[in-house]
Amino acid sequence: MVLPRLVDFDSTTVPEEDTEVLVVGSGAAGLSASLSAARAGRRVLLVAKSGFLDTASDLAQGGIAVALSKDDSPEKHLQDTLNSGSGLSDPEFVKVLVREGPERVRAMLSSGAIFTRDGSGLAFTREGGHSVPRIIYASGDRSGAEVIRTLSPLVLQNRRIEIREKYFLIDLITLGNSVIGGLFFEGEKKIPLFVRAASVVLATGGSGQLFQETTNPTISTGDGMAAAYRSGATLRDLEFVQFHPTVFYVAGAPRFLISEAVRGEGAALVNDRQEHFMRSYHPDAELASRDVVARAILDQMKRQAARNVYLDCRSIGPNFKKRFPSIYAMVQRFRIDPAHDLIPVRPAAHYMMGGVKIDLNGAADLENLFACGEVACTGVHGANRLGSNSLLECLVFGDRAGAAAAEGKHIFRGRVQFTRRWKDFHLDVADLKRSLNALVWRHCGIEREGSDLEFVLEKLKEWQSYALSARFFDSSGWEMQNMLLIAGLIAQSALERTESRGAHFRTDFPERDDAKWLRHIDRKIN
Ligand code: SIN
Repeated sequence: MVLPRLVDFDSTTVPEEDTEVLVVGSGAAGLSASLSAARAGRRVLLVAKSGFLDTASDLAQGGIAVALSKDDSPEKHLQDTLNSGSGLSDPEFVKVLVREGPERVRAMLSSGAIFTRDGSGLAFTREGGHSVPRIIYASGDRSGAEVIRTLSPLVLQNRRIEIREKYFLIDLITLGNSVIGGLFFEGEKKIPLFVRAASVVLATGGSGQLFQETTNPTISTGDGMAAAYRSGATLRDLEFVQFHPTVFYVAGAPRFLISEAVRGEGAALVNDRQEHFMRSYHPDAELASRDVVARAILDQMKRQAARNVYLDCRSIGPNFKKRFPSIYAMVQRFRIDPAHDLIPVRPAAHYMMGGVKIDLNGAADLENLFACGEVACTGVHGANRLGSNSLLECLVFGDRAGAAAAEGKHIFRGRVQFTRRWKDFHLDVADLKRSLNALVWRHCGIEREGSDLEFVLEKLKEWQSYALSARFFDSSGWEMQNMLLIAGLIAQSALERTESRGAHFRTDFPERDDAKWLRHIDRKIN
């Protein structure tokens, strides 16, 4: 029995329940996996860290990249995805994505999803790195919300699926090389709870909360990745964090995404002097891949000692309000009218390309453990995710992971004993989070350098020396431990990769080095 985590409760026995398939996370991937496991006849327990509907998927604006237009084909989508991945996308996974994607999207449309239409068919917009307009979208910029609005009632109505909210995953529980369930902190009653399961599907999302500037919601603290690592699963590609180039940047405003689709509809990036600058960085200008655009913005900010650049959306004119209603509603609160004013933007951490290494069926390298969505590293995104591929990935690989998890039958019934191990001192988690965010943003952000990454690792070691043994009174302390762990793994991988590729840019190794680095970096607990 491996109990790698400090468990903060008094009893050596904890209340228990069981299920056939345990799905952790209720975003697009978790919903897809739950529906798929239930379709296979399994009893599913779907647990959400916060509310059932509080998910990062809900915030996804741009849309779903899918080869459904007459000018498109799965082969073109495959090629664009591989180009964006900078040599590290796995063609076998991308083939599955682009070939099964259209079918998954059609199934969602027949379940009642409403995506914007153009005449008799679906409307398609464009984002960076796509050779044709390929992105379907809903209510302008509420695409993720439409996916959740479609799938969540199917889950709620399914008699095989039970839902629990405020279940925080403390750790996966293993027996040898097998996962036998999850230990949770039940936030309502404030008690630990052990859920036994024949299979566990992690759909816990990303880790953007490590960074000072992020588009991710507060729940994105890398919990699933950290638990998988502690239980012995392999994590892959952690150095590849995507920074979205255009996030709203006004004092007092949330770091709200200004979708890439805004640039797809013609908006231009301008600097403090109102000069268009993207053409001098890349022939595709505003529609170059995200890593290129994010670095160009950073370069402009440095050259002009500016805190941001601007999106000039005036060419979209009054149509902006209709085409991007959520973005319009946000910016106009800060007295900005995109038909006349420039929108201040700068890059922020957006998406973790790395995660739990899985096979084509979502299986991790521990028995009974599966992963899908942002927590997983499918190999689709490689070093740089092609915009709007992630909702499609949730639908395709969520479905596959749920089906594969449904094959597990054996629930471990033997006795499991937990040990109480904590030291009674209080940690100011909010204070430590501010320090961590500043450190990670500064040194593991868009540009990295070896000596800075070494400094990060030293700092993290110092913080971990006390944070890993503190006593917590709610889940924020465990989140903190997860963030410290994942920050360290990102820094180690970023230090090891002595080249620049996709979203990983080393100022001390600015060139791509295929001879040495056309390979993945895996991290596994010793
Ligand atoms: C966006 O709308 O720009 C984000 C879409 C994505 O992250 O894929």
